[in-house]
Amino acid sequence: MASGTKARYQRFAAREARGHSPSYERLAGGVADDPGLLALIDELPDERRQPNLLLAAVRFLDGPVGGDYAAFREWTVTHWTCVRDTMLERRTQTNEPARCAVLLPLLARLPQPLALIEVGASAGLCLYPDRYGYRYDGGPVFGDTASPVVLDCATTGPVPLPQRLPEVVWRAGVDLNPLEVTDPQDVRWLECLVWPEQHERLARLRNAVRVARAEPPTLVRGDLDATIRDLVAAAPAGATPVVLHSAVLAYLPPEKRESFATTMRDLACPWISNEAPGVLPAVDHRLPPLPDPDTLLFTLALNERPLARTSPHGQSLEWLPTW
Ligand SMILES: C[S@@+](CC[C@H](N)C(=O)[O-])C[C@H]1O[C@@H](n2cnc3c(N)ncnc32)[C@H](O)[C@@H]1O
Repeated sequence: MASGTKARYQRFAAREARGHSPSYERLAGGVADDPGLLALIDELPDERRQPNLLLAAVRFLDGPVGGDYAAFREWTVTHWTCVRDTMLERRTQTNEPARCAVLLPLLARLPQPLALIEVGASAGLCLYPDRYGYRYDGGPVFGDTASPVVLDCATTGPVPLPQRLPEVVWRAGVDLNPLEVTDPQDVRWLECLVWPEQHERLARLRNAVRVARAEPPTLVRGDLDATIRDLVAAAPAGATPVVLHSAVLAYLPPEKRESFATTMRDLACPWISNEAPGVLPAVDHRLPPLPDPDTLLFTLALNERPLARTSPHGQSLEWLPTW
C-alpha cells in the first residue's frame, strides 16, 4: 500500500537519516511527499521498497543525490527501469568492519585458536578481527598496529579489554548473496550503501576491503540455517568453531530466527550474536531494562547470554554488570 511506503520513507527521513545524512533526510522526505514516485516504488515487492535500497541504487547508477529533490526525482523517474532492476537485483547488505571492535573482547576470551564462521556475512569484512587495529577510549592502538584499519570504540562498564588478539586459523561465511571483495561492482555496491556524508565509514570500508583482498574469505551462497551445520563441520580440527552474526536476524521472519536459534542450541559451539532488541527473545528476556527504551542499541550475547550493549556500527561497547 502506498500509505505504508510513505510512512516508511517518512520514518527513515526523521528517525534514521536525521543527524547522520542531510541529503538522505531531504531525499527520503521528498519521496514521502511524492505520490508519483511512491506509486513506482510500490510496484516492487514489499522487501524491495526500502529507502536505503532506492538511494543506493540511484547512486550506483551515478544519479544525483547531493542536490535538491527535484533533480533527484527527475533523474530517478527518467531512469526508472534501470533503478528498478538494480533494486530487484541488489540488496541492502551494508558490511561494517567496525563491529569487530565490539566482538573482539569476547573472541579473545574463547579457547584459541578460532575457526570463525559468520552467518549473514555480506562481503565477510567482520571475519578479520585479527587484521585490524583498535583504539578503545582514545588510548594507544592495540592489535595489528600496521593495519590500514583502526577502529575507535568508547567503552563503559567492566569491559574485559583483551591483552592479545584472537588467533584466527580459518574464516568462512554464508550469505544469501555473498559479495566478493575481488569484484569491483560488488565493492562499488558496498560503497554506495554507505551514506553520502559518512566519509570516515567509506574510508574504513575501502581499507577493510584491501585487508580482505589479501586473503579473501570463503563465502558460500545460501540460507544461514540451512548451511550452518556443514560450515561448523568443515572447521579444522584443533580450532574452536565460533559462529557469529551482527545485524542479520532482523532480516528473517520470527519463525526462521527461532529455527536458527534451535539449530545453534543443538550445535552447542560458541555462538556470538550482536543484534537489535526484539530479534532474539531468549536474549531479551535475560536483559536488564534499558535506561532509555528509545536507544537503538544492539545486544552482544554469547549462547543467548547477554554480555553487553553495543552501538549498531561498533562505536561503543557497554559491558553489562553481572546481575
Ligand atoms: C546488514 S548486512 C550485515 C553484514 C555483516 N554481518 C555486518 O555486520 O557488517 C545483513 C546480511 O545478512 C544477509 N542475510 C539476510 N538473511 C539471510 C539468510 N537467511 N541467510 C544468509 N544470509 C542472510 C544479507 O544478505 C546481508 O548480507
